[in-house]
Amino acid sequence: MQKRILSGMRPTGKLHLGNFHGALSNWVALQDRGDYDCFYFVADWHALTSDYASTENIKANTVDMVIDWLAAGLDPDRSTLFIQSSVMEHAELFLLLSMITPLSWLERNPTYKEIKEELSQKDLSTFGFLGYPVLQAADIIMYKASGVPVGVDQLPHVELTREIARRFNFLYREIFPIPEPLLTEVPKLLGTDGRKMSKSYENAIFMSDQGDELKKKVAAMFTDPQRQRKSDPGRPELCNVYTLHEIYSTPEVVAEIAPACRSAAIGCIECKKRLAAAIAEGMKPVHERREHYLASPQEVRAIMEDGNVRAGRIARETMAEVREAMKINHEL
Ligand code: TRP
Ligand code: SF4
Repeated sequence: MQKRILSGMRPTGKLHLGNFHGALSNWVALQDRGDYDCFYFVADWHALTSDYASTENIKANTVDMVIDWLAAGLDPDRSTLFIQSSVMEHAELFLLLSMITPLSWLERNPTYKEIKEELSQKDLSTFGFLGYPVLQAADIIMYKASGVPVGVDQLPHVELTREIARRFNFLYREIFPIPEPLLTEVPKLLGTDGRKMSKSYENAIFMSDQGDELKKKVAAMFTDPQRQRKSDPGRPELCNVYTLHEIYSTPEVVAEIAPACRSAAIGCIECKKRLAAAIAEGMKPVHERREHYLASPQEVRAIMEDGNVRAGRIARETMAEVREAMKINHEL
């Protein structure tokens, strides 16, 4: 049997270039390797852990995000794309795992403490928020995933998943493989204002940005702060425009821009114009797929429904084993 890969994202809506070059392109690369059976899902229940008081955008955000997944090159014939809340077994496994997870494991989770402080304007003293990693553990082990592609921020959650899986195997029966996190080096993309690229900072360049919108955002990008005038020499290594050139421009152009910037032979306006053109060119296949799926909502819905069925089939198999191992199957 092929090794299984599983990962998920909370439904944040349209994805930006940070998401694209971070998690998403890694998901596509794992799919394209062809030696993994890939499962990718929308973690809409996880969205509720912090946004329980405003749920009105979750549905639209789910569709927008899945369209970006497809635009990025996830292929529903090769990867199973599904929605967490459509596979109810996740809730059952979450409940069962919550019985065996010591509170102390959850309370010492660094991500829990950090996010709670970061989002101090929301009341996150809820049972669900504390249990976030237990639900994540259920998502992962449900599919007996051997690899979980995630960013470093998710490592504590995967570590907890491993501990919970080991505890289940020890208490009942060896059902679950212990999953490995799959970390990949990703370029650190900053937003147009020089802070971390994030939808909530309103500094994001979206995967879908094209034409004038794209040009405007690139033109507004923060550059080397010491380069005030065109005659000032610049430091490309400190400039986010240059980081993006490294991704989108040809090696020849990149090799030309760095010295030209250092010697003030090229101005930032020109440099940014070239970048906007390179992004537009590089994202062309993504934009074309995006247009296609945007124009066929029926097809997107069918893809998600098919993914839900495929995921549900495996989830039901796993839950039959789990109930049997825990001796809470009462079928007569
Ligand atoms: N916590 C993840 C995030 O915020 C989303 C997630 C939920 C996830 N369940 C998962 C990721 C299982 C990997 C595997 O990005
Ligand atoms: Fe950045 Fe380009 Fe300006 Fe150099 S010329 S500082 S790389 S935008």
